[in-house]
Amino acid sequence: MSDFCPIKRFDHLEFYVGNARQAAQFYSKFFGFTNTAYRGLESGSREVASYVMQQGDICFVLSTALFPEHPISQSVLKHGDGVAIIALEVMDAVSAYKETTKRGAVGAIEPTEEEDGYGVFRYAAIHAYGDVLIKFVERSDYSGVFAPGFMPQHHAHNSNSVGLHTIDHVVGNVELGAMDQWVQFFADTMGFNLLVHFDDETISTEYSALMSKVMQNGTGKIKLPINEPAKGKRKSQIEEYLEYNNGSGVQHIACATNNIIETVSQLKTAGAEFLHVPRTYYENLEERVGKIDEPIEQLQELGILVDRDEDGYLLQIFTQPVQDRPTLFFEVIERHGSQGFGEGNFKSLFEAIEREQALRGNL
Ligand code: FE2
Repeated sequence: MSDFCPIKRFDHLEFYVGNARQAAQFYSKFFGFTNTAYRGLESGSREVASYVMQQGDICFVLSTALFPEHPISQSVLKHGDGVAIIALEVMDAVSAYKETTKRGAVGAIEPTEEEDGYGVFRYAAIHAYGDVLIKFVERSDYSGVFAPGFMPQHHAHNSNSVGLHTIDHVVGNVELGAMDQWVQFFADTMGFNLLVHFDDETISTEYSALMSKVMQNGTGKIKLPINEPAKGKRKSQIEEYLEYNNGSGVQHIACATNNIIETVSQLKTAGAEFLHVPRTYYENLEERVGKIDEPIEQLQELGILVDRDEDGYLLQIFTQPVQDRPTLFFEVIERHGSQGFGEGNFKSLFEAIEREQALRGNL
């Protein structure tokens, strides 16, 4: 079957934030991103200021509105700072819009063309879970910095990189009972398939549970897991997210590195905060995951988790939420063959999250 919605890669994730100038400093100082382009009053943008932050092949756009009535201000009021747009680079934005809306997706931005001295930039968008949009971006006829209206930041060659190179996956949290509907949405409208399914037996602790299905596109480059809460004794981390985000939204962004020890050492030195892993996790680790290339003492010192499946192993670590609301957080991942998501770590990971939840008075 031919792929009716071919996707090249994650183009960028756009965050709506309360103060993009300060958020840009945060992602630059703590996470190794470099501000490469900007739009704002100085570039003639009268309503929105945006900072394009890049590291390796990863691109985040941090946007803030300059007026309270603007939809970005309304979004920040409702959800707090977070991911508003998942932008995918496609060959043909018009076709992506037509094919997905023909199959039931609700249009958000009709196919649009913007032109400047660097060519033509085309995009369109559809609605996904919550207020999140999936944006189709076509760059093949455009050679400027990011998009028309943006100006390059000339200090940008001083890269801050800590070695994060690509977006591995972007996870969404949806309301109880809504997971299958969104799985169906990605299957029907974008031709994604179900890579793997975790039920509440796999992902449960003493207090809470969740279910997860991982959807991926035809090439496997775009992976979008979707979580929903399952019944537990207490409030699950997904319910806590849904409460503070006021509905469905992006829960975490996993960024890949080729040297997680080096990356996490640099992030910790810079001041990024990670979930605490109990000492007991590292007892008998080698018996559980077999031989790995990295020294276990170093993984323990940094709090890096390990998981193995039949294809290989992976190393991963999770940050604390990156805003006051317990909503969006990051994962750093290094894959050695394994195409999984660290399911062997779910239990200890969720127990760690619940300890933090308890500290917030939300468990
Ligand atoms: Fe993840």
